[in-house]
Amino acid sequence: MIKGHIDFTLPTRVTFGSGKLIELREEIARCSFKRVALITSKDLVELKLAEKAVVAAEQGGAKTLVFSRGASNPTTKLVAEGVKELGPFDPDCLVGFGGGSAIDLAKGIGICLSHRTQDIKALQSNQEIEVRSIPVICIPTTSGTGSEVNYWAVISDPKTNEKLSIGHPAMAPHLAIVDPELTLTLPRKITLWTGLDALTHALEAYVSILSNRPSGLLALEAIKLVLENLGRAVNHGEDLAAREHMALASLLAGAAMQQVGLGLIHAMSHQVSGFYDTPHGLTNAKLLAPVFAFNLPKIPQEKRASLDSLSEMSFQEVLTEIDQRHGLTDEVITVRESDLEVMSNRAATNLNAKTNPRHPEPSEIESLYRSTFTVV
Ligand SMILES: [Fe+2]
Repeated sequence: MIKGHIDFTLPTRVTFGSGKLIELREEIARCSFKRVALITSKDLVELKLAEKAVVAAEQGGAKTLVFSRGASNPTTKLVAEGVKELGPFDPDCLVGFGGGSAIDLAKGIGICLSHRTQDIKALQSNQEIEVRSIPVICIPTTSGTGSEVNYWAVISDPKTNEKLSIGHPAMAPHLAIVDPELTLTLPRKITLWTGLDALTHALEAYVSILSNRPSGLLALEAIKLVLENLGRAVNHGEDLAAREHMALASLLAGAAMQQVGLGLIHAMSHQVSGFYDTPHGLTNAKLLAPVFAFNLPKIPQEKRASLDSLSEMSFQEVLTEIDQRHGLTDEVITVRESDLEVMSNRAATNLNAKTNPRHPEPSEIESLYRSTFTVV
């Protein structure tokens, strides 16, 4: 007998495969989009990857404008700047082209443009409003975010150092184009950090208190794919098969977390990135093993057994081994003593902590911060 009911939504159409970037041309022509704004980052423009998306959009019959100020941990201020710059162009479609930051920025700009406001925070807190967005096509160039298949955007508020999780069904991407060829030139460290973000999504979804059979299948497959392919993708970036499997892992993990949420790793890492602008994937990676150990007593036996069966080592040992093999133990993140209390309290009440298998007290979170990061 199946316990409980299953509530499942996959809000976004996905087209996946090497060379699929060309689908951008097809979709723009099919939908008759006429003014397409590409939200991306400077490095992707310099690598001439963004140009490929621009060419595809123009071949589809659209005029294009590139906003290339995407950066890690996009802020409310950057959303406002994007709205200001793109407003006069009046785009009828946005393309988020890059890692999770570019995609989340595109989602944020999409709802703000649609509501003719630059203030995403006010939009988020207005319960009266019927949220809508300009269609957003998401094209990830990293394998980690999963944002291309969910309706969440993480936007930082520099005034309060908070990372806001802004989500609404209307923010679900219009289409996700996942072309693993776009990840072939990703540097080693970014491949590692984003790959471990995908592993974090999959693991947190797998042990989420809301998890169900479909989300469990997606999450466990994503974990397997990361364990089998991360090393090759990191050390042999040109290996297309490894890149494809990592892209699939990221996608499956993203679909799982859309259903059942995340957990304490994201609740804690958002505070660290919010205060110190640290890379999301690296911050999660540092927290993976310690938070898994903290959660272990509350993870159901059958799930622990499934995780342990993925290799000859226990899953806890697998996580420790990943840290050592990839030199994560040498990556130092420093946090300030004076911020620890606020960060711990915020993490305890963060949306992501609500689906964590073990209820964390702020004092326990503070201990985890102390044991994971360098406190000054
Ligand atoms: Fe993440």
